[in-house]
Amino acid sequence: MDNARFAIAIMAAGKGTRLKSKRPKVLHEIGGRALLLHVIAAAKTVVAAEDIYCIVGHEAERVRAAAAPTGVRFVLQAEQRGTGHALQQLKTHFVATGEAVPENLLVLSGDVPLIRPETIRALCEGHLRERAAMTILTAVPPDPTGYGRVLRAVPGGAEVTAIVEQKALKPEQMGAPEINSGIYCFRTAALFEKLDLLSTDNAHGEYYLTDVAALLVADGQRVVAVQGDSVDEVLGANTIAEMMHLDAAMRLATARRLMSEGVTIFRPETCVIDAEVEVAADTIIEPYVQLLGATRIGPDCRIRSYSVIQSSTLGSGVLVRNGCVMDSAEIADGAVIGPYAHLRPESRIGEGAHVGNFVETKKVTLGKGSKANHLNYLGDATIGDGVNIGAGAITCNYDGVSKHQTTIGDGVFVGSDSTLVAPVTVHDGAYIAAGSCITEEVPAGALALGRSRQVIKEGWAAAKKAARKS
Ligand code: UD1
Ligand code: CA
Repeated sequence: MDNARFAIAIMAAGKGTRLKSKRPKVLHEIGGRALLLHVIAAAKTVVAAEDIYCIVGHEAERVRAAAAPTGVRFVLQAEQRGTGHALQQLKTHFVATGEAVPENLLVLSGDVPLIRPETIRALCEGHLRERAAMTILTAVPPDPTGYGRVLRAVPGGAEVTAIVEQKALKPEQMGAPEINSGIYCFRTAALFEKLDLLSTDNAHGEYYLTDVAALLVADGQRVVAVQGDSVDEVLGANTIAEMMHLDAAMRLATARRLMSEGVTIFRPETCVIDAEVEVAADTIIEPYVQLLGATRIGPDCRIRSYSVIQSSTLGSGVLVRNGCVMDSAEIADGAVIGPYAHLRPESRIGEGAHVGNFVETKKVTLGKGSKANHLNYLGDATIGDGVNIGAGAITCNYDGVSKHQTTIGDGVFVGSDSTLVAPVTVHDGAYIAAGSCITEEVPAGALALGRSRQVIKEGWAAAKKAARKS
């Protein structure tokens, strides 16, 4: 395909009334990514970002902000008066800017997110081969209700006579099985000419892009349909239920991809795995795991049930026990996490280190082989190699105004239930006695005791009992 002859328009200005949501439809997410960003990603595999025109309108600033990093262009449809009206704005854009009009225009819908690059390419190639003025991508789903129907001139022939929207179907057309995907190729000049002839004489009082088909046919121009290979990829998302159907389809596709790459996923239908997640071979994922965002997991790991891992990087042979929550953490090879550990952003867990039951970490470096196994809070701390943090020990990093740093050297032993009041440094090989409150620097190899002395009152219990009786 000669890319230079195609530009892409993505219709993304609609409100999404049927979702009943404050969020614009194209910013709703499936597979952990906004609908529109899925469509843009597919479009960018076919043409350069500067040849992609995103038509925005409802909550335009929000949509623009979400899509701007992709480098696409934007055209404003200030009032949303239908899909035909959306493309009229693109025409106006070309007239107003004097930009060169691309010979062919591929139109994508911002709410048809599973579309694959291969399908887009095949549609464009078919369009050129057929020398058509309009080429419509179609499908025959089990239930066509709600979609516009594509009517062919003769069954099995390529030529189309019209696209009829659901509400305009005549009784004898109700059974028409072939749906309009909302994805088309146009010879741009032919489209732009017919856009001015659209009317709002229909059930929604809108300018329908789909009416261009019959207008072209009436003018003796060639309109053809190309049926795609898969139904799922052209399904639209007009309601939350439809969106969740697409979400499940996309996540299952991701799980299948990972399994084909050697990852074991038990009960994949229970796992929530975002589209960008990467997992290496021989890693095992148990049921009810969530792997989100840009998470990367190395080989030979085991992620046990009910763990939620967001945008984190795990090395090889990491064991994540049940019920862990991680966000933007980095975990080195052979580390053991959980059960029920909470690793907040900038937690860097060293090789072979252990972070155990009910431990919370934040902005922490835990060195090689170090252990924090029970009931700890470790925040704003640098902890060396081979350190043992006893049960219940915590860093007191916040004085009510600012956060302060705790530094613990290699081989330090922090006794149970100690509190380390930051800023404070404990040097290599030092011991902190259990129950200590540490407020001052501890030299290397020293023992620090920071607790009140125990007092023994011999025979106290008997004396008390005797006093009660008298
Ligand atoms: C549209 C098609 C229908 C097709 C279906 C496939 C029309 C009239 N109908 O119906 O034949 O089967 O898609 O999914 O085109 N949009 C704008 N500006 C507007 C209106 C809509 O940019 O003024 C955008 C929406 O944000 C959306 C896309 O165009 O991304 C489609 O609009 P939508 O209202 O969802 O059309 P459907 O009713 O699904
Ligand atoms: Ca739609």
